[in-house]
Amino acid sequence: MAAGGAQARGHRGRGLAVSGVESGTRAREALDSAITAIAAAGCETPRLDAELLIAHVLGVARERLLSDPDLAVSGPAVRALRDAVRRRAVQREPVAYITGTRHFRRLELAVDHRVLIPRPETELLVELAVAALPRGARVLDVGTGSGAVALALADERPDLTITGSDLSDDALAVARANAARLGLDRVQWLHADLLEGVPGVFDAILSNSPYVAESDRASLAPEILRHEPAGALFAGPDGLDVIRPLVAQAGARASVCLLAVEIGAGQAGAVAELMRAAGFAAVRAERDLAGIERVVVGSR
Ligand SMILES: C[S@@+](CC[C@H](N)C(=O)[O-])C[C@H]1O[C@@H](n2cnc3c(N)ncnc32)[C@H](O)[C@@H]1O
Repeated sequence: MAAGGAQARGHRGRGLAVSGVESGTRAREALDSAITAIAAAGCETPRLDAELLIAHVLGVARERLLSDPDLAVSGPAVRALRDAVRRRAVQREPVAYITGTRHFRRLELAVDHRVLIPRPETELLVELAVAALPRGARVLDVGTGSGAVALALADERPDLTITGSDLSDDALAVARANAARLGLDRVQWLHADLLEGVPGVFDAILSNSPYVAESDRASLAPEILRHEPAGALFAGPDGLDVIRPLVAQAGARASVCLLAVEIGAGQAGAVAELMRAAGFAAVRAERDLAGIERVVVGSR
């Protein structure tokens, strides 16, 4: 699939390579062309992105592209692929928003611009909770977004009573829809600013809430800065404007025996100190697969 042709002439600059999918192209050529366009735009994983987009457009598993490279890209798939590659390469839209799905633990979650795309490192929060929570514990996932943590926990620990909360009604709508689609309707959802006015008694609070410092804004990838909701990312000058009140509020609830909070690189010391000051003991930081201190856990 070469760049050019009538479609390409309708675009300028970086749009040229993006638009070169001709009707009747084979998956192999479509892949080469998409990789070229996505790589030229400076995206970090062009082959993976291209495979996911083509598989999505064709409605096949990614592996099929390798086992059947002569698969035809024709009909409506041609326009859909051009559009998907343009969104990825020109607008730098994350693949998960284009395909509308993201894998998290054992679940396939629906995601869109209303929610942060769940990250692999957040799986650590679920892993720790699955291992640590006593049978029947009542758990609150604060800042649930797409419902990733609450739903993965409900999926893996059916004995738990789980509530997900968020300040964003838009996010809660996505979480509710995910719960219904995945048959995990027993998770409760609450609109709340952290723990303010949250009814009920909880044994454990988990949270991946915003923790990006305002000063780090300029260093974020365009995928994040342009497309993910700012309210899911930023938390004041040091990135702790949400975690700080959350830890204090959790500490003030006597029933909370376990608090686990996802953090950014370099925040472990400050968050551990906040937890100790709020009355939690045995405070420790757990590292993610990249070796970064990612979750601070306290208990009492
Ligand atoms: C980093 S995103 C994480 C979403 C989800 N937990 C995940 O891991 O994919 C943070 C979420 O916290 C929510 N949030 C921000 N401030 C909040 C607050 N004060 N109270 C409750 N939720 C809040 C945002 O709307 C967003 O959905």
